[in-house]
Amino acid sequence: MRIVCIGGGPAGLYFGLLMKKLHPEHSITVVERNRPYDTFGWGVVFSDATMEAMKIWDPESAAEIQDAFNHWDDIEVWFKGTRQRTSGHGFVGIGRKKLLNILQRRCEALGVELTFETDANSDLEYPDADLIIASDGFNSKIRNRYPEVFQPDLITRPNRYIWLGTHKLYDAFTFDFRKTDHGWFQAHIYKFDDQTSTFIVETTEEAYEKHGLGELDQQGSIDFCQDLFSEVLDGAELMTNARHMRGSAWLNFNRLICGKWSHFNGQSHVVLMGDAAHTAHFAIGSGTKLAIDDAIELTNQFNRLGHDKGKIPEVLEAYEEIRRVDVARIQNAARNAMEWFEVVGRRYADTLEPEQFMYSMLTRSQRISHENLRLRDANWLEGYERWFAGKAGMVSTTNGRCLPPMFTPYTVRGVTLPNRIVMSPMAMYSAKDGLIDDFHLVHIGSRAMGGAGLVFGEMTCVSPDARITPGCLGLWNEEQAEGWRRLVEFVHINTPAKVGIQLGHAGRKGSTKLAWEGTDQPLDDGNWPLISASALPYLKHSQMPKAMDRADLDRVLTDHIRAAELAATTGADWLELHCAHGYLLSSFLSPLTNTRTDEYGGDHAARARYPLEVFRAIRAVWPDEKPISVRLSCHDWFDGGNTPEDAAIFAAMFKEAGADMIDCSSGQVWKEETPVYGRLFQTPFSDKIRNEVGIPTIAVGAISEADHANSIIAAGRADLCAVARPHLADPAWTLHEAAKIGINTVPWPKQYYAGKTQYETNLAREKQAAATGVK
Ligand SMILES: Cc1cc2nc3c(=O)[nH]c(=O)nc-3n(C[C@H](O)[C@H](O)[C@H](O)COP(=O)(O)OP(=O)(O)OC[C@H]3O[C@@H](n4cnc5c(N)ncnc54)[C@H](O)[C@@H]3O)c2cc1C
Ligand SMILES: Cc1cc2nc3c(=O)[nH]c(=O)nc-3n(C[C@H](O)[C@H](O)[C@H](O)COP(=O)(O)O)c2cc1C
Repeated sequence: MRIVCIGGGPAGLYFGLLMKKLHPEHSITVVERNRPYDTFGWGVVFSDATMEAMKIWDPESAAEIQDAFNHWDDIEVWFKGTRQRTSGHGFVGIGRKKLLNILQRRCEALGVELTFETDANSDLEYPDADLIIASDGFNSKIRNRYPEVFQPDLITRPNRYIWLGTHKLYDAFTFDFRKTDHGWFQAHIYKFDDQTSTFIVETTEEAYEKHGLGELDQQGSIDFCQDLFSEVLDGAELMTNARHMRGSAWLNFNRLICGKWSHFNGQSHVVLMGDAAHTAHFAIGSGTKLAIDDAIELTNQFNRLGHDKGKIPEVLEAYEEIRRVDVARIQNAARNAMEWFEVVGRRYADTLEPEQFMYSMLTRSQRISHENLRLRDANWLEGYERWFAGKAGMVSTTNGRCLPPMFTPYTVRGVTLPNRIVMSPMAMYSAKDGLIDDFHLVHIGSRAMGGAGLVFGEMTCVSPDARITPGCLGLWNEEQAEGWRRLVEFVHINTPAKVGIQLGHAGRKGSTKLAWEGTDQPLDDGNWPLISASALPYLKHSQMPKAMDRADLDRVLTDHIRAAELAATTGADWLELHCAHGYLLSSFLSPLTNTRTDEYGGDHAARARYPLEVFRAIRAVWPDEKPISVRLSCHDWFDGGNTPEDAAIFAAMFKEAGADMIDCSSGQVWKEETPVYGRLFQTPFSDKIRNEVGIPTIAVGAISEADHANSIIAAGRADLCAVARPHLADPAWTLHEAAKIGINTVPWPKQYYAGKTQYETNLAREKQAAATGVK
């Protein structure tokens, strides 16, 4: 085969040398516009996994690269006068120049033709090539020739950064955060050879503008950074190696994803590789790793399917299919980490204490969890757990393990929860006339006995016509309040848990069948009239709701007050106002469902007016010493609907009205929504609201392990974690999760103690069997 790699970066060179090594009869040329052994760029970071693969594919170059590697384990964070360090993070770095020189030499030794100082303008310049590798980097001319084929999706990120270097050598991956009059700057610093460290400085567009960095030449920017980071530089100077760039050297990161990676141009097959196909932000490592992994996979597919011209289409398809998955995984983690650095100034740096700030930074990609940090540096993590427990008012003991964050108590107003786990409200559709009966007593009671710190009953409707289904709980009469009293008393006598009541009104989603008879489907008979912010049915065939008039608004307000007054007589500890999921109050908040032209429709203040009136009214009759949370749909997942930005605005309004917490859910507002599900998928909304609005939050949604809850609470992404479906599978979810992470000091109900020891012993045995392979 005749192969031409356009671009002699890591991707083109490594692919060239691998293919030549495996099949010397291939004719391979790498075309590079720069001069030989002339490249720029500071250090690049590799993972151990990539290095292991390189050892297998080409031990010769791998040995040279490994010799030149710098390995370091520690991360150090400089923040507000503190220096914190943790270990066990394992990075390897190498100078880009060094890496490329090793690969160039290896290419020459194997007989790959290297053509330097040649700017390839088009793939059509190589008509005799069977395969053209577009390894010409992020600005790939080759990719840009076929936008309709490759479908590049480019997003320019808001932060500005500058690549600099210094001769000061750091023995840890160092992050330094500095506040200026115009905002925060951060430096990402790592040593990559025995003389040099990479020093990337990053800030927001706003700070960049206000400091006039765009008007400075490179020396001006260097002087600015040197002055700002003088403490960490300790007299060392910063340098640039991008003197070829005109004007400001501050860049914006561009995230690139391509819809397709290969194309037949009529003469040759063209395939994208490395930065030409995808980019990953430097916040979690370098694109070099991805470029090398691409080169290895394409070679692997030729080995698997045959080093033959005829196989090229099949090879390219398999290469794209496999690499796409890995690239997406890394790009996801890179996105989380990148976003953390984009919001760090306005979200975390001014609010979190240094210890929590460090934890938040370490877990920024959300690939590193609480237990993962324990594996890396148990001492550091236990120190952090002690710090966190101390903040929650616990006296830490020196013997025995400190309780991890999810098991620390939490106090709001006069209510102290024994831990941070909440059984989320879940409609059971099993009530008659809205009454709590034995089913609810056993259902909620057993979850309280199972260790959750706060157990919510399902959405409890404020009037008969406020119900979603005929099976929903209600609180509009004394008999219903009596049912709650019995439940609350049971929980308080038998468990340390607190009880929450979620008040709600179904609005346009009311008068429907029980879930197992058809979720959201209108009743066949016995329907009651519906009301909503506007006259818009939920499903096309749903009943048409009436847009609420003044009398409706007044009546429903009174219904909420009556329900809150009744709730106050039950001894329940916590009230939640349901303003999510498309029910009545949510229908006012969303522009999709609120098209009113009176004072209750329009901008944020108008749409929130009625929900806030209801909130203030129930706050006035609910005991002062007890909290009220508000559940919001923080994302409508539909164009034109509310986004997390809107939710933050509403959260600030509820905070101002006296809400104690925002329970951060999402969706179910608009039938055609397209939510993006996944592990902890709603936690970013909680993180945003808690740390930007400054109100405590409950995170909810696909939180299914202690490790998830500990990571969220420890990082300050929420104060409490609500767990719904896992509680349906396991009433004792909290107690079982404690045992699974080796915590045996969380009390079980005294009647169940014999079960506790056996459960813990069996888990320990299973763990040992898994570790040793002996059952
Ligand atoms: C200048 C520079 C500095 C970098 N510094 C760092 C760093 O310090 N740390 C880090 O982690 N990552 C750094 N990166 C990013 C990282 O190196 C890339 O993710 C990685 O190099 C991707 O490899 P690649 O082979 O796909 O592309 P690149 O490394 O970008 O290589 C593309 C090559 O193609 C050549 N080329 C482009 N167009 C043509 C053309 N028309 N004709 C001929 N040749 C062409 C370019 O000169 C370049 O050598 C840097 C990237 C660049 C371009
Ligand atoms: C069966 C069921 C009923 C639910 N009913 C309610 C409800 O009454 N009120 C409410 O706010 N959310 C309700 N939800 C949503 C949950 O409280 C929770 O937000 C959602 O299930 C995501 O959490 P999970 O991933 O832990 O299940 C319900 C969820 C389920 C599975």
